[in-house]
Amino acid sequence: MTGRTLVIAIDGPAASGKSSTAQWVAGQLGIHHVDSGALYRALTAVALEQQPDMTQWNAADVLAGGARITLVPGDRTFIPLIDGARDDERLRGSGVTAGVSAIARMQQAREWVNAQVRVAAREHAVVVDGRDIGTVVFPDATLKVFLVADPWERARRRLQQRLARSPADDEIAEETELLVRRDAADQTQTVQARDAILLDTTYITQADQVARIVALTRAALERTAEPLEH
Ligand code: DC
Repeated sequence: MTGRTLVIAIDGPAASGKSSTAQWVAGQLGIHHVDSGALYRALTAVALEQQPDMTQWNAADVLAGGARITLVPGDRTFIPLIDGARDDERLRGSGVTAGVSAIARMQQAREWVNAQVRVAAREHAVVVDGRDIGTVVFPDATLKVFLVADPWERARRRLQQRLARSPADDEIAEETELLVRRDAADQTQTVQARDAILLDTTYITQADQVARIVALTRAALERTAEPLEH
């Protein structure tokens, strides 16, 4: 490496497996994972608590809520704490999920999240997952990956994880509809960098996609490494 910290950017649409893949890659490489979506979710949880009526949200209040959030390094993943406490269930809950796209569209919220993520990456080698990591947050990331998968398969995987059983076709159809709607709501933010490697995971296992990203990272590091002797 040439003096800068390792950053692996993993972007892609909802339920493309970004966070779990990023966490797994971080474990394999012995580095940290930052889930940028979790910061948007933490801002949303605070906003909801301060003002349950989403139509009344404004960027200044949402940003003020950011003062209650801290991003701390956990064992492998950075954890957003609200008033010093961790609450993953609240961040993944339906209220936050319904409101988070509105907050992710606020430019000031985006700048706040980006600043938190950049601070984390200053001190640690990181895998960061999100929507605009390779384009806006770290345009010079060591490696950029854009994960995609067929919506039906994304919905099936998400339900399988949530229900811990094989979902029925009508359940998958319903979840696919929700996902497609979320894709549309997040479309502007979800951008594939020109130099990102597109990885379609519809037909490969998560273990395979992790192995590919780890191999791509090692190759990128070899390319950017300074020669040992010269
Ligand atoms: O990945 P997720 O479902 O936890 O993301 C939550 C929301 O935040 C979703 O609406 C997309 C948005 N997001 C974003 O706009 N930019 C990012 N870098 C990460 C997430």
